[in-house]
Amino acid sequence: MDAVDVTSLQPFEAIPEIVVPPDARRNPVAYLLHAAVTAEPIFRRRTPPRQVSRYGPWQVYLVGPAANRFVLHTHRHLFAHRQGWQAFFGGVWNENLLYLDGAAHAAHRRIMAPAFTAADMGAHLAVMQRVIGRRTAAWGEEAAVEVRLATRDLAFDVVAEALLGFAPAARVRALHAARDTLCRNPYPYGKAAYWRHIAAQRAHLNELLQAAIATREAHAAPDLLARMAAARDDPAGVLDADHFLGHIQVLLEAGHTTTMDTATWVLGLLATHPTEQARVRAEVAAVLADHAGALNLPALKAMNVLGHVIDEAGRLRTPVDTAPRGALTDIPFAGYHIPQGTFVRLHLGATHRLPAVFTDPTRFDPDRFAPPRAEQRRTPYGLVTFGGGPRICIGMQFAQVEIKALVAHLVQHYRIDPIPGLTPPNVYDPADPDDSLPRGLPLRFVRLHG
Ligand code: HEM
Repeated sequence: MDAVDVTSLQPFEAIPEIVVPPDARRNPVAYLLHAAVTAEPIFRRRTPPRQVSRYGPWQVYLVGPAANRFVLHTHRHLFAHRQGWQAFFGGVWNENLLYLDGAAHAAHRRIMAPAFTAADMGAHLAVMQRVIGRRTAAWGEEAAVEVRLATRDLAFDVVAEALLGFAPAARVRALHAARDTLCRNPYPYGKAAYWRHIAAQRAHLNELLQAAIATREAHAAPDLLARMAAARDDPAGVLDADHFLGHIQVLLEAGHTTTMDTATWVLGLLATHPTEQARVRAEVAAVLADHAGALNLPALKAMNVLGHVIDEAGRLRTPVDTAPRGALTDIPFAGYHIPQGTFVRLHLGATHRLPAVFTDPTRFDPDRFAPPRAEQRRTPYGLVTFGGGPRICIGMQFAQVEIKALVAHLVQHYRIDPIPGLTPPNVYDPADPDDSLPRGLPLRFVRLHG
């Protein structure tokens, strides 16, 4: 790595600082999102005391298309995923794809990539549709569906069953419960009790995973699990037993929380924008009529209005709002010196709110993605919901197919309504000063036929 001459740069102390005021500490994420828009392209924030052992005393935020291109593409070798993501996940997971860097990462990603190609997606879609049918069948009978919880359970089932082939449903539920106990640990980060909890709960989850894997391997289906198992059993290969488990853990994790977030916002936005909901329903009906009623991959691909609603939900409510990294060396950015070892956050969500990148950026306006506007094409690295460069989300197509299949199914069977007094008014309200994220999202699903 080339040494950087830092003498020509402004020192670290000169990087503008953002302080989260006491009244915004309830929701620092929302505060920083707004602050980042004016502080583009760089600012720093003092780490709250309880997180210093995790992230160090300062965190540097980089914002905007140029920052995205720098970190995700041209200068990615200066930034470590490991220091970023391992700290972010609090050391919960075994070794996995998100923690790897350089050649090791490329070798592991090559093993997993075939399962995410269009060739495998048709088989995934068939399982997704089974899960969607099963999980949403009773929504019309419920006075209120808490969609954040409901889509979380659905997305976990989908990734466990469609991608990893785990079954039966009771086993998948037990895996989900073990994941929740591990991740929602009640102890302060880094203390002995924290690590004891992580070790015990991780051992429990891994035991359940091993049993699910053993059942799956006995079936010898040519799926992702089989490919990874073959790589693990290859004595000349790169994938050991620790990575094998870690990859599965992280696919389950990254594959369900983000999809839950996006599906939640899509449903909330459609409920609170009935005209948009009617357009999506009409499009789904027209496309299905053109495809002999089959909700297959070509049909999903033809649903452009729905695709733009999903893109817009991901833009406004970016599930991975910051991508964490560690500075591997002294780094020059925008004339400032970022010292080696600094915890860096690339603020993906803030790029999506920059007026230079998206017109009237706080407005819910799915047509911004339709030709001739096609705002996502205007600025390279402007729409980064799934990251970018060689480490763009491996599950991007999987998630898009899943969310499209879910919404296409729901709008055919239900009208999606907000519930007065229960559905938060700020599903998306640009006038909301701190853009605070509601904790839950209760909606009503009114059956359309019979
Ligand atoms: C709407 C849903 C999703 C969003 C918004 C999302 C977002 C992202 C982003 C922003 C990254 C890049 C992180 C970085 O640069 O540090 C990423 C990476 C990744 N995502 Fe997703 N993701 C989604 C769904 C999924 C699904 C369904 C899976 C798996 C089934 C998945 C698995 C992964 C993995 C394994 C990586 C690491 C890739 C690598 O480093 O090579 N994601 N995701």
